[in-house]
Amino acid sequence: TPDIIIAPSILAADFANLAAAAHAVEGAADWLHVDVMDNHFVPNLTIGPPVVASLRRATGIPFDCHLMIEDPKRWAPAYAQLGAYNVTFHAEACDDPVALAKDLRAAGTLAGLAVDRDTPIEPYLELLPHFDTLLVMTIKAGFGGQAFMPEMLAKVRTARRHANAGHLDIRIEVDGGIADDTIEAAAAAGADAFVAGTAVYGADDPARACRKLRALAEA
Ligand code: DX5
Ligand code: ZN
Repeated sequence: TPDIIIAPSILAADFANLAAAAHAVEGAADWLHVDVMDNHFVPNLTIGPPVVASLRRATGIPFDCHLMIEDPKRWAPAYAQLGAYNVTFHAEACDDPVALAKDLRAAGTLAGLAVDRDTPIEPYLELLPHFDTLLVMTIKAGFGGQAFMPEMLAKVRTARRHANAGHLDIRIEVDGGIADDTIEAAAAAGADAFVAGTAVYGADDPARACRKLRALAEA
């Protein structure tokens, strides 16, 4: 697996041409970040299992499904079954995150835990051995195109210290406002997976935007 993961978010792509959006970053991106929103956990609505399953058949790039939904215990396994590579659900939406992580791993996918802007990281540090990815929101979840919040990087630093001290095999992913002018700070804080919506799909050449982000994160 690569040292750095670049995960373009299709939230910023043309939803009438999702297969083309995936193809545009194949070879340049590591994962395709798929934002699932239910208009309950966040005040926005995107796509669900049928669309993700169809897109799965249209591309070989691994899917990083970010579930911004209530009741992830009910829905998350469906994303594992349709072939997602990683399935991340929100700590705020789940009363037994470890049980759901075990279900996801048993279903053959990586398990991710997400913490939104207003959620501290400390209560979740002890759960990290059960997870493959930790997603630290660097905005309030719900919409693309928001400004990066550098103060969220304190959570990344705390998680990275904890992961290193415990020799945990976990990715620390940042999501929200990641672009050429913010990715270096996130990498320096200890993130090693980077979601970018606007910075990739708002660019003229999405693959080139991915390569630029990777170079900055690796620097
Ligand atoms: C928002 C989503 C993000 C979103 C990021 O809640 O989780 O993945 O696409 O968009 P940008 O990169 O534009 O901030
Ligand atoms: Zn996301």
